[in-house]
Amino acid sequence: MRTTTVPRLGRDISLVGLGTWQLGGDWATVGDEAAQEVLAAAADAGTRLFDTADVYGDGRSERAIGRFLAERGDRDEFTVITKMGRRAEPHVPEAYTLDNFRRWTDRSRELLGVETLDLVQLHCPPTPVYSDERVFDDLRVLVDEGRIARFGVSVELVDEALAALEQPDLATIQIIVNIFRRKPLERVLPLAAERGVGIIARLPLASGLLSGKYDEHTTFAPEDHRTWNRDGRLMNIGETFSGIPFEVGVAAAREVAALTPAGWATSQLALGWLAQMGVATMIPGASKPSQARANAEAAEFPELAPEALARLEEIYEEYCREHVHDVF
Ligand SMILES: NC(=O)c1ccc[n+]([C@@H]2O[C@H](COP(=O)([O-])OP(=O)(O)OC[C@H]3O[C@@H](n4cnc5c(N)ncnc54)[C@H](OP(=O)(O)O)[C@@H]3O)[C@@H](O)[C@H]2O)c1
Repeated sequence: MRTTTVPRLGRDISLVGLGTWQLGGDWATVGDEAAQEVLAAAADAGTRLFDTADVYGDGRSERAIGRFLAERGDRDEFTVITKMGRRAEPHVPEAYTLDNFRRWTDRSRELLGVETLDLVQLHCPPTPVYSDERVFDDLRVLVDEGRIARFGVSVELVDEALAALEQPDLATIQIIVNIFRRKPLERVLPLAAERGVGIIARLPLASGLLSGKYDEHTTFAPEDHRTWNRDGRLMNIGETFSGIPFEVGVAAAREVAALTPAGWATSQLALGWLAQMGVATMIPGASKPSQARANAEAAEFPELAPEALARLEEIYEEYCREHVHDVF
């Protein structure tokens, strides 16, 4: 597995990680043993980074990772990145206090079975939180206390990423960036690279659209967010298909699929493209071992030629820009 160096994280990480939202079972029906199999497939294929959050399955995802790493016995080889903030009820800026940070991280430390969390990300907090110096000072207290090694943010908006980038010790930014979401390439990646901040690409497959396997008739299970959040009713609309209307995304993905070289899958092209764009890591979600394996193997995807890169940009302009560029 290729690795990348993130200066502000102080460690090398695997280019392809694994997103484990599905393993919490909030919207995908992945059982405990199946979750272990997905983690094992990813690890055996070289993945050394797992992304989770304290709210995924209300701790189930963190617990699964904790169990997996304890049973495997080579914890130090892995980087586990988690998130906090979404346990707050109501989810308001005032909930981002040192007391809550201690409570939330202590729970994650216990579930993950570690003394010090490798990285904690603020989990898409309300926008004002990204510019609140007091919040970042409190995160520094957690570092001093040994509860966390580093901190980062997960964001919905490019402007939120830019606000967080003002922090001199911010380690990472998790943002939706994929073939259908190009704005971070222009506005966030160059500055982050200059400052040694790692970009973690989430939804690298646009919720699966970029596998090219769906068509206009595809349906998802009732509990799947790709059924209940298509209109952004219960979560930010960007989290489902990256904010692209499903039928538009299916048509655009067909054009992307036409560029897939022989012997590779379209999902691997999508991940290979992200690597070429210079993200530190990407965290495709996988509900099956075969997906986790294929995604890890995408670290070896060959560089795309300039003509293919230009065609992908055209596809974005033609299908996606109007839905996302000025929104996120
Ligand atoms: N606010 C936040 O910070 C936030 C929000 C959302 C997600 N995340 C993180 O980002 C991760 C990724 O997000 P995501 O899973 O929603 O989006 P994603 O990675 O873009 O898409 C995952 C979906 O793509 C399909 N897939 C994955 N690998 C495949 C392969 N090799 N071949 C064919 N299809 C494949 C699967 O769909 P099928 O189920 O249809 O097979 C899977 O459910 C999450 O697990 C989580 O860790 C963070």
